[in-house]
Amino acid sequence: MKEQALESKFLNLAVLISGSGSNLQSIIDAIDSGSLNAKISVVISNNDSAYGLQRASRSGIDTVVLSHLDYADRRQHEQALSEYIDRYHPELIILAGYMRILSLWFVSKYADMILNIHPSLLPKFKGTNTHQRVLDAGETEHGASVHLVTEELDGGPVVIQAKVPVKPGDNAETLRDRVLAKEHIIYPEAIKWFSTGKVRAEQSKLIFS
Ligand code: GRF
Repeated sequence: MKEQALESKFLNLAVLISGSGSNLQSIIDAIDSGSLNAKISVVISNNDSAYGLQRASRSGIDTVVLSHLDYADRRQHEQALSEYIDRYHPELIILAGYMRILSLWFVSKYADMILNIHPSLLPKFKGTNTHQRVLDAGETEHGASVHLVTEELDGGPVVIQAKVPVKPGDNAETLRDRVLAKEHIIYPEAIKWFSTGKVRAEQSKLIFS
């Protein structure tokens, strides 16, 4: 057993995705390498063609597809989502490119348990299409943030950020790739901080020790 595993609390994770799942992969890799003392019990996608589902299956992780299109409204979809999540008793719910806005009901039910990664240096550039908006704004610096999910969209307290330069000649794709490479470092690191007790969440706030 690696040193990290001895000093940390084992975390049971549920990961929600909608797409490629490269952040999911970075968490799987951190667990497999022994640097993150955790298990991903289930990966849930709202999109049945999300490549992340294949990544999960390859690693022997249970997968669930719950398309929002199969439910009458957001609440019913989230209720089904919640029933699946509860079967696995996760300590943290990891949003890794999950492209659905979560209702106040869901966020309250799992208060202090949900983390998200957002491709900007929050509080700047909340919302979508961040890379193009950063270019349009003439920023010289960009990055990614892992934050606690609270009722304000992309507004919860930040656990960790990573910065990248905006370089001459960048377009949204080159910038996205530079940011994504940092995301793959900081998301497993943020989860590790919860496992080691470096940070904990209480009443929608982060407490660092
Ligand atoms: C990432 O850019 C992340 O910041 C955003 O959605 C994207 C997910 O990418 N929330 P992937 O599915 O993890 O590859």
